[in-house]
Amino acid sequence: MGKIEESVEFIRGKTDVKPEIGIILGSGLGSLADEMEGVSIPYKDIPHFPVSRVPGHKGNLVMGELEGKKIVAMQGRSHFYEGHSLDEITYPVRVMRELGATVLLVTNAGGGIDKDFRPGNLMLIIDHINFMGANPLRGRKEFVDLTFAYDKELIELTERIAKDQGIEIKKGVYIAVPGPSYETPSEIKAFEKLGADAVGMSTIPEVIVAKSLGMRVLGISCITNMAAGILKKPLSHEEVIETTKKVEAKFKKLVRKIITKIQLTS
Ligand code: HPA
Repeated sequence: MGKIEESVEFIRGKTDVKPEIGIILGSGLGSLADEMEGVSIPYKDIPHFPVSRVPGHKGNLVMGELEGKKIVAMQGRSHFYEGHSLDEITYPVRVMRELGATVLLVTNAGGGIDKDFRPGNLMLIIDHINFMGANPLRGRKEFVDLTFAYDKELIELTERIAKDQGIEIKKGVYIAVPGPSYETPSEIKAFEKLGADAVGMSTIPEVIVAKSLGMRVLGISCITNMAAGILKKPLSHEEVIETTKKVEAKFKKLVRKIITKIQLTS
């Protein structure tokens, strides 16, 4: 049996839920999974699953129902900067797909580069720039098309829902760096020139793998701070977590509505 089959067999031994939607809950955004009806499986118990030790990341795979849809949610993720390979950090996406998920909703915390952004904003990811210097498909010879990486219909659906709910939502391009240090002000100026609106240390590897598996992808960044040099003050992980706490209620309301309205085609 392959690794993925072993992970899937273990998970299927804990629940009968056949998930339709996979959700990756980033820094400080994990509490949505606590509201699901279902089972919570610690990553450390799942064969071959990578374990994250970053504060603010819980480390559970939660399988169950939310808004009448079957969900597999990752409460926290592992990161490239922790020393995991991109193969390892994208492994859970392969498992979610194998469990049945055809849609991936991926969330993260990011620094705002666009000067119209404010900490606490939510940003729909419309495209990305992979600045990690690595690709999770390396060695696999898969020439995956990323022209439409972020599903247009899901972006439009989210914009409509945000408008109905009175939730302000920005749109922009996400750039990912390897981390774990934050960027210098000069790097942020350079990223702005490259066309990036927000910067973070995750998400892109998972999106690339999800696309290689034919999944529809929706990405939402929580802008937790303005990127380095914009406000002439230092950045901290504490500030990042603090902002996600303030945004969480709005974020959860939005995600619940997206799940309610999402049309599943297969
Ligand atoms: N830079 C990189 N990653 C981040 C930031 C940032 O400013 N904020 C939250 N994650």
